[in-house]
Amino acid sequence: MKPVFDAIEHSAHRISEAITNEDLCYGDSCNATGDMQLKLDIQSDLIIAEEFSKITAVKAIASEEKEEAETLHPEGRFMIAYDPLDGSSLIDVDLSVGTIYGIYDGEFQAKNMLAAVYVVHGPRLEMVTAYKGGVRHYIFRHGRFMEQETIRLGEKGKLNAPGGTQMHWYPHHKKLIEGLFAEGYRLRYSGGMVPDLHQILLKGGGLFSYPGTTDKPNGKLRKLFEVFPFAYIYETAGGAAVDDKGRRLMELPCDDPHETTPCFLGSKYEVEKMREAYGIG
Ligand code: F6P
Repeated sequence: MKPVFDAIEHSAHRISEAITNEDLCYGDSCNATGDMQLKLDIQSDLIIAEEFSKITAVKAIASEEKEEAETLHPEGRFMIAYDPLDGSSLIDVDLSVGTIYGIYDGEFQAKNMLAAVYVVHGPRLEMVTAYKGGVRHYIFRHGRFMEQETIRLGEKGKLNAPGGTQMHWYPHHKKLIEGLFAEGYRLRYSGGMVPDLHQILLKGGGLFSYPGTTDKPNGKLRKLFEVFPFAYIYETAGGAAVDDKGRRLMELPCDDPHETTPCFLGSKYEVEKMREAYGIG
């Protein structure tokens, strides 16, 4: 696994450089040299694919940017699914974005997950890994990722990050969100899954929800590229991660790489509140 984590670290550094130095004039030929520019999410995807292609233990990769998985080393062990630059439109307004990885032993199914990692590109470059029962936090300083504290979620937090368009929420979901605010929870929602979940994780707990809505009954967030890795990280940190039927996200099948699911991730207390509001026994 070490070479895989090393490749993730190299990619994080290279993507960070690209975010800082590329001009954001996407499209035909608007940079000074007249070269065709690539959007940052495509560029990030290429960087990650290049780094993983150097690691013989990586059998195949699936990117949120591509329709199909790609075999790199048929004899390798790990299958890696990733979202190269989640929330990339937030770069235009200088908010944090991130990269999300799920590392599998065997097929891309939640039950085969061995490790999950996300990288936050914010005022600082940070990384969180869940592996072998521990969630570890790293900050990039002086050219390398330095390990910080181990992360554990509290039983109950203070933050509420409710996704989805409110006019399309179901009444029971509205009740859940309003109930948490009535208990004193604070609204923290940037529209970037990585920074929103990072904040809840580092500040001890709360609830991130992206429900099924009247216009999108299966939610918006993709199982393979967004939901499974965070579910793995939250559960490893002592929290909970369920869908709108109260099933563990980590027990859901994945029939299509781009399949979505409603999701609720948080500390145990808030996920219990979700069960109550949704009438789940
Ligand atoms: O899937 C991309 C994404 O930007 C996530 O990072 C984020 O949680 C979600 O979409 C935000 O969606 P919305 O704009 O509907 O709240």
